[in-house]
Amino acid sequence: MEKKKILFAASEAAPFIKSGGLGDVIGSLPKAVSGKNCEVAVVLPLHEGVSEKVRKKLVPITHIFIPLAWRSQYCGIFKYEEKSVTWYFIDNEYYFKRGNALYGCYDDAERFAFFSTAVLEILPYIDYFPDVIHSHDWQTALVPIYYKLKYYMRPGYESIKTVFTIHNIEYQGIFDKGIVENVLGLPVEEFDNGFLEFDGRVNLMKAAVTCSDSVTTVSPSYAEEIKTPEYAHGLHDILRYEEGKLCGIINGIDQKLYDPAKDKKIFFNYSQKDMSGKAQNKEELQALVNLPKNSDIPVIGMVTRLVSHKGLDLVSCIIDELLEDDVQLVIVGTGDWKYEQFLRDKQWQYPFKLSVNIAFNSELAQKIYAGSDMFLMPSKSEPCGLAQMIALRYGTIPIVRKTGGLGDSISRYDAESGEGNGFVFSDYNAQEMLGVIRAACDCYRDKEKWTKLIENGMNVDFSWKKSAKEYNKLYDALMGE
Ligand code: GLC
Repeated sequence: MEKKKILFAASEAAPFIKSGGLGDVIGSLPKAVSGKNCEVAVVLPLHEGVSEKVRKKLVPITHIFIPLAWRSQYCGIFKYEEKSVTWYFIDNEYYFKRGNALYGCYDDAERFAFFSTAVLEILPYIDYFPDVIHSHDWQTALVPIYYKLKYYMRPGYESIKTVFTIHNIEYQGIFDKGIVENVLGLPVEEFDNGFLEFDGRVNLMKAAVTCSDSVTTVSPSYAEEIKTPEYAHGLHDILRYEEGKLCGIINGIDQKLYDPAKDKKIFFNYSQKDMSGKAQNKEELQALVNLPKNSDIPVIGMVTRLVSHKGLDLVSCIIDELLEDDVQLVIVGTGDWKYEQFLRDKQWQYPFKLSVNIAFNSELAQKIYAGSDMFLMPSKSEPCGLAQMIALRYGTIPIVRKTGGLGDSISRYDAESGEGNGFVFSDYNAQEMLGVIRAACDCYRDKEKWTKLIENGMNVDFSWKKSAKEYNKLYDALMGE
């Protein structure tokens, strides 16, 4: 049997270039779905931030010129081959030499229209006609859109199926009508007839949802949530209408990358067999972030963007009450100025209990995963969330709100039966959260229970295996096999 061919299109992938969870997923999912019956290639923009080390290994394939409305733009094609996945990089310095900025440029619509066109234009040049093109988030939403409007009849393209994955419905790729002809190079009728239009503006995610053969999101609960106004940022009716082709598949994590026994970023390595290193990591972490060294005080870690939907309002609301207790809170992240400033102020007020580190710092993040006792993630919404899975892998007990992937991966610890792997609250309510944090701290003081809880957590399998199987099933179903 011939292998099926999948082509991923995405705007970032670890370790090449990453700004968030999307990068982690594209860095590990392709490898996981590839296998005996499945060949996978990925197309990425050659962002400026891709390291010299990687660039040295890039093999030039060719260059072509890409039509984009009235423009004709240079498109270099490079290949980076790995055992199980082939990566293609699209080179155009005008669009992708933007320092560290992956998104948020004034011409994002044009940059990603260029990239999405490139994904479809390069197929004959890389000699790879996939059975399925799987694109991710608004940056590559134009791939299924262009496919449906312009490419579906081209020789070699006729039987391609499209899958679109929503990693976060908050970012939909919304632009003014003016881009339709001038930037996207599409007839304005496609806006006037409602295909590209939503609420009077161009909405790329919405159009991709309506025209893709299948739509997925990154956890089963989030697939339900985004059919409701509370979570959908306006797209609930569309998703309800298209629910027949919508499903949620939970993300995994790269268990090799996140392994306390091998992680070079933490102070001491440890494993479930010998957990002594975890206590040492805690001590070193306390010293590093200027908190009193004390193994009896529970350390609560947070690695997060400091933005509203991560639940920062809940934390702000009860931080004084919480810090009256015998606890330490260590936070690393950047985000909205108002939360950054608030937390800095609080650190002055509670220098022996609170450590605030306003930075994007993956070294410190790993040290927090390893050195904390608990990991707080009170998100208002969370499509999947990877941090809670990483925390568990490091024997750090998550305290989460039951939403999206948090609810799908963390189950409430039941002291009676000894089952469960974390602490969970349901309402977006600061007092409810505080109650659960305090319950976690009580449990922490019961060493026997706590050890059992850590054991439960470290035994959970968050590898990609199961999810990759589900994606493969989905691809097979689309191909009619
Ligand atoms: C987005 C979501 C996050 C998810 C990640 C990967 O960053 O906010 O919840 O884990 O994508 O799918």
